Amino acid sequence: MKPIQVGLLGIGTVGSGTFKVLTRNQAEIRRRAGRGIEIAMVADLDTVRARAIVGEGVEVVADARAVIANPAIDIVIELIGGYTIAKTLVMEAIAAGKHVVTANKALLAVHGSEIFAAAHAKGVMVAFEAAVAGGIPIIKALREGLTANRIEWIAGIINGTTNFILSEMRDKGLDFGVVLKEAQRLGYAEADPTFDIEGVDAGHKVTIMSAIAFGVPVQFDKAHVEGITKLQAADIRYAEQLGYRIKLLGITKRRDDAGGIELRVHPTLVPAKRLIANVEGAMNAVVVQGDAVGTTLYYGKGAGAEPTASAVVADLVDITRLHTADPDHRVPHLAFQPDELHDTPILPIAQVITSFYLRLQVADQTGVLSRITTILAEHDISIDAVLQRPGAEGAGQVAAEGEKPTDLIILTHETVEGRMREALAKMQALPTVLAPIVNIRKEELN
Ligand code: HSE
Repeated sequence: MKPIQVGLLGIGTVGSGTFKVLTRNQAEIRRRAGRGIEIAMVADLDTVRARAIVGEGVEVVADARAVIANPAIDIVIELIGGYTIAKTLVMEAIAAGKHVVTANKALLAVHGSEIFAAAHAKGVMVAFEAAVAGGIPIIKALREGLTANRIEWIAGIINGTTNFILSEMRDKGLDFGVVLKEAQRLGYAEADPTFDIEGVDAGHKVTIMSAIAFGVPVQFDKAHVEGITKLQAADIRYAEQLGYRIKLLGITKRRDDAGGIELRVHPTLVPAKRLIANVEGAMNAVVVQGDAVGTTLYYGKGAGAEPTASAVVADLVDITRLHTADPDHRVPHLAFQPDELHDTPILPIAQVITSFYLRLQVADQTGVLSRITTILAEHDISIDAVLQRPGAEGAGQVAAEGEKPTDLIILTHETVEGRMREALAKMQALPTVLAPIVNIRKEELN
């Protein structure tokens, strides 16, 4: 049988990795897919560079639409990125009856519902294993391997840049700004790292996982997203002393008690003994809790040419296997039949339940701690542990002469976030609280 014909839009890092892996492992991939898979056409604005990568046997064009218009092309791989031109081209490829493979998490997290509906109507597949956690086959794990389960929650380190920065902050005791500069110098962080450090990239990825796990539409606009820019070395150190590490986690959780789903990204204290707390550098890891299987962990490279290509090529193999199957009997895009998707709401952050790490810089006076614990008790927030340390030099203001600032670190048990926000406002208003209270959510992940 003639190899399935693939057109590639954008041959940057991941595109060239995809071409390399497909070429190198050609024979094995053909045996696995039951048919050859051939990149027949590449579109890239830099045609000279593209030609140098793919050699003479592949048609190279500057215009992506020439690929979409080519009736011989069965699958289009979109590796352009972003929401604008990538969206137009994906919609045009679907309209032209092509299957689509994309690594574009931003596009799917924001416009996924529209894209999947168009693909469903046209009877084509949109595959996106590379969009979440690069080379880790987490989409396939959720869609297929864990499909027997009622998923309870997912928590993942799904952004390598921020995990690298947090690892460096902990190892070297440095603050965020210093490590970011070093990460940019070494090429671990982009010149404009906003999407990574503000948690947006992780937000896109957890939004996609949430939709697959719970059968809700993709809705990034409902996700609560916080990055790591405000983290201080002192909190990483105190967390360590209490037996925790701070990780940027993407979390989504079924909350039957509240009739909704939690969907959030924020720095999180995790017990140091958990495997995920020990995922260092730019590596990714995802923990999935299913009712039948229990806790499972997936670990690997979340970015890079060949790790991401590994996921792109797996999607090409999947599509090749399913190409001739009846569209109604394929695994649907979000792994639930489209008519079975439901509108369970994403809960507002005020309804999320977590425990907390608090750091209060206070004047070291009699009665300060009891005033704080009284406020927590009034809000029905139970304390798990308290630590007192001499305050960081030069931090905050000293209330009056002779009153040394001291750091009070409090770990709480679980509470509804809205309640904690009220308690924080009251504690912040105490004259003996000398600086903005640091508050970081904590998850036991057991
Ligand atoms: N910038 C991402 C990361 C990889 O740092 O993990 C692509 O999503």
